[in-house]
Amino acid sequence: MIVFNFKEIISKTIEDLKTQNKRVGFVPTMGALHSGHLALVSKSLKENDIVVVSVFVNPTQFDKNEDLKKYPRTLNRDIKLLKTLSKSNIVVYAPSVKDIYGENIEAINFDFDGLENGMEGKFRKGHFDGVGTVVKRLLEIVQPHNAYFGEKDFQQLQIIKKLVEKYKLPLNVIGCEIYREESGLALSSRNERLSLEQKKAAPAIYKTLKKAKEKFANQSVNKVTKWVVAAFANQKLLQLEYFIIADVKTLKEINRKSSKKAYRAFIAVYAGEIRLIDNIALN
Ligand code: PAF
Repeated sequence: MIVFNFKEIISKTIEDLKTQNKRVGFVPTMGALHSGHLALVSKSLKENDIVVVSVFVNPTQFDKNEDLKKYPRTLNRDIKLLKTLSKSNIVVYAPSVKDIYGENIEAINFDFDGLENGMEGKFRKGHFDGVGTVVKRLLEIVQPHNAYFGEKDFQQLQIIKKLVEKYKLPLNVIGCEIYREESGLALSSRNERLSLEQKKAAPAIYKTLKKAKEKFANQSVNKVTKWVVAAFANQKLLQLEYFIIADVKTLKEINRKSSKKAYRAFIAVYAGEIRLIDNIALN
């Protein structure tokens, strides 16, 4: 498996592969790969001839320096995991911060037509400017036919679709369902940092989302939201940051539902200092 560290070299290699009519899939990651990432890579292997996996902890998308410092960095383990899927059809791009940003580690200021304003955008200031900046750069370097993103970061997925539309980037953005542990906890690189006790408590997040979905069928938005807030008030190890029901298209929080629209519930919870997010389709 080839591991590239420099953008010029990987760009040239991919360009050559494309002239040989190879289809290129791309799975951008921040490393600390888990089965959710591997499922994205497997899907991409089925739908493309070659899959590029980037491993890059992007500094501009972290609002807390502490979180950036503590983000797990496990490149050798990541490469070993990827080799279990394919030794010849996966290439890794693991650039330095300099390779991506040069001397100027700054995010572009984007307008994603309001998709960026609520939820993660509200609670993590500048987060989506950072994500947009790095994803745009990575897409320009890799120039894939298809790029794969998980629905756990549903807001991010919608924003990346908007980025691709606005900049007319020639690729398909493919969203993939949320992968969960048996307990229901959504897979995330952050799960590695949970203590045993926190790990036992965390599945309550998805359980609550499923119950909220049931309630949403015949209760008002306000009632469902109050129920969720009360459910977390009883949780010693989990602190609710937000629970929001939003229109799937605009990602705007709603107060009243209409039978003609599709909605999703979004949640962010702290287990100690570890922030976990999840979401569920409601109708
Ligand atoms: O979802 C992630 O892991 C990151 O936000 C991404 C898309 C790789 C950009 O750094």
